[in-house]
Amino acid sequence: MDKKNSLSITDNRTGRTYEVPIENDTIRAMDLRQIRVHDSDFGMMLYDPAFTNTANCKSRITYIDGERGILEYRGYPIEDLAENSTYLETAYLILNGELPSRQELEEWTYQVTHHTLLHENIKKFIDGFRHDAHPMGILISATAALSTYYPQAKSVLDIESRRLQTYRLIGKVITLAAFAYRHSRGLPYVYPCNDLSYTGNFLSMLFRMTESPYKPNPVLEHALDVLFILHADHEQNCSTNAMRSVGSSQADPYVSIAAAAAALYGPLHGGANEAVLRMLSSIGNLERVPDFIRRVKAGETRLMGFGHRVYKNYDPRARVIKRIADQVFEVTGRNPLLNIALELEKIALEDEYFIKRKLYPNVDFYSGLIYQAMGFPVDMFPVLFAIGRTVGWIAQWQEMLTDGEQKIARPRQVYLGVRQRAYVPMEKRPSTMREA
Ligand code: CMC
Repeated sequence: MDKKNSLSITDNRTGRTYEVPIENDTIRAMDLRQIRVHDSDFGMMLYDPAFTNTANCKSRITYIDGERGILEYRGYPIEDLAENSTYLETAYLILNGELPSRQELEEWTYQVTHHTLLHENIKKFIDGFRHDAHPMGILISATAALSTYYPQAKSVLDIESRRLQTYRLIGKVITLAAFAYRHSRGLPYVYPCNDLSYTGNFLSMLFRMTESPYKPNPVLEHALDVLFILHADHEQNCSTNAMRSVGSSQADPYVSIAAAAAALYGPLHGGANEAVLRMLSSIGNLERVPDFIRRVKAGETRLMGFGHRVYKNYDPRARVIKRIADQVFEVTGRNPLLNIALELEKIALEDEYFIKRKLYPNVDFYSGLIYQAMGFPVDMFPVLFAIGRTVGWIAQWQEMLTDGEQKIARPRQVYLGVRQRAYVPMEKRPSTMREA
């Protein structure tokens, strides 16, 4: 039989049949617009709240096979990158599509390192926050504020400007994050040090007191670097969608990243690692695990760090994290909450409720335990996620801007509200309009 790469759709309202082309296993939503009952109709649309089955772009950055638990950046498996690469090298790969040569990596590292300093004035901005301000709120606001320091960043179609903002964003995000932390602790800000690695520099800006020179613990430095790799991109998730959507209006990358980071902040996304730790602490001991699981199954609460829109299998990032956790705990001592996490995982993976819904641990289930063991307060966890993800947001933003098919993002709606009513003057309204 001659196979055609098209889909035939019969509209039973009219008996008419339409043929729409199939490309990459998708049809174009606009091809449905021709389907109408009357010539004056708007035409058929797709209704897909939360984009559960709608591709918004063609991308060449990150591949996920959620059923099989596969994650690749530019074709390289996440396990391979976690084992062999560094965050900055992976960031280069994500942005440019290929691993860098030695010289390219040196140049890239030099540029990022030399853009870690902030304008002095930003310190006053951060000082304006209350002492107990959530560092994610500070990071989001301070990133947006950087837009006012670099007005030329508005030239989003200028490749050189984009390159410069990329160095700045990846360089400065660690400094902003560290300053947010130091502010919350009432500690003096520590300036970046070019002799250290990207992650070592971050640790220095966070935790350095009076020691000179500051030497980060190599195991912890490596673990955090791997965690940044694991978080570097994850295709079209909520925050990346925010980045692409805000960026599609040609807003500058600083405010677009602030929007993406705001999306990340929510407990169903990057705020989940913080929620996991709070959940583990509230469970408190092993005896209370079964009761907690009962409450989850009764729909009273969620098992944070479990489940994923795309993964219907063990999140491959969670596997790597479990390995890294062992290395970290050898240095820091075992996090006492680990036993509770392991017990939750054990029960959940054997329980019908979780099996049926294909709920497995995601990246956030174990990452918080590592962060806590390393000395990070719980509210810094989403900030750490944001640091790693910054490169993903930038790469996706660049891809969107250079994609000839993309335009300002503007979804449609199905309007179900009232139409064409005459304005009711105040004296003619009942005591509440709802009663009318
Ligand atoms: N605990 C208990 N039940 C859950 C959970 C959970 N963590 N996640 C999903 N379910 C249930 C949900 O109640 C629903 O059951 P039913 O069919 O009986 O109504 C079913 O599983 C499908 O859930 P959903 O909410 O329709 O799935 P979704 O794709 O919209 O949500 C999710 C994905 C990640 C928001 C959700 O699994 C969740 O809230 N997980 C906890 C928060 C979390 O760990 N987030 C981090 C995600 S990984 C990091 C990142 O990429 O941001």
